[in-house]
Amino acid sequence: MISEKEYWSQKFKQRGDKLMEPELFIKNNIHFMRSGTVLDIACGDGRNAIYLAKRGFEVTGIDFSDEAIKRLSKFSKENSVSVNKKIIDLSNLNEIKNLGKFSNIIISHYKPTTGLFHTLPDLLDKDGVLILCTFNYRQHEERGFPMKYCLVKDEFLNVSDELLIIKHEVIDDERGHLDGYVFKLK
Ligand SMILES: C[S@@+](CC[C@H](N)C(=O)[O-])C[C@H]1O[C@@H](n2cnc3c(N)ncnc32)[C@H](O)[C@@H]1O
Repeated sequence: MISEKEYWSQKFKQRGDKLMEPELFIKNNIHFMRSGTVLDIACGDGRNAIYLAKRGFEVTGIDFSDEAIKRLSKFSKENSVSVNKKIIDLSNLNEIKNLGKFSNIIISHYKPTTGLFHTLPDLLDKDGVLILCTFNYRQHEERGFPMKYCLVKDEFLNVSDELLIIKHEVIDDERGHLDGYVFKLK
């Protein structure tokens, strides 16, 4: 059996030459974000990082796949933007703790572990914003997507004393079944 890292590297190698559209939940909620910096966790090949860099944010993308980061470099050049990049394996939380603080964090199409989620407030500046959007349990039930990658119902509602929920949306559309959350550091 191949490792998760190898799985993702193969996936990125097989992807076409075109950068995917940014996640709609991020586009629709960009007005909640503070100007300044963004940490894009599990950034992949950078569809959201590049979208935000083009809009004036200073973006740092982190991912454990060197193939994803290579593609992000290529796409940022093509789009004439600069994105800071780091190869980080999120299963080792010590690696993320030394990144400094950010005005915003985004997590798109990646399910954070409880441990990762609880480290995020320490990575946010005062009034910092966290946007999280990923598949939920209905994507598993109706489309067979592995449950380990899916959020359970209301998974991140009322789980943090440090983050205030400013929006929670359950999305059912052509993208599939997702939960979107916007939090602000209390
Ligand atoms: C579905 S993709 C989402 C990419 C991007 N956020 C987006 O919305 O297009 C999931 C990403 O998570 C990354 N990933 C999975 N497990 C990881 C881990 N343990 N550490 C770092 N990145 C990881 C993969 O390499 C992949 O880029």
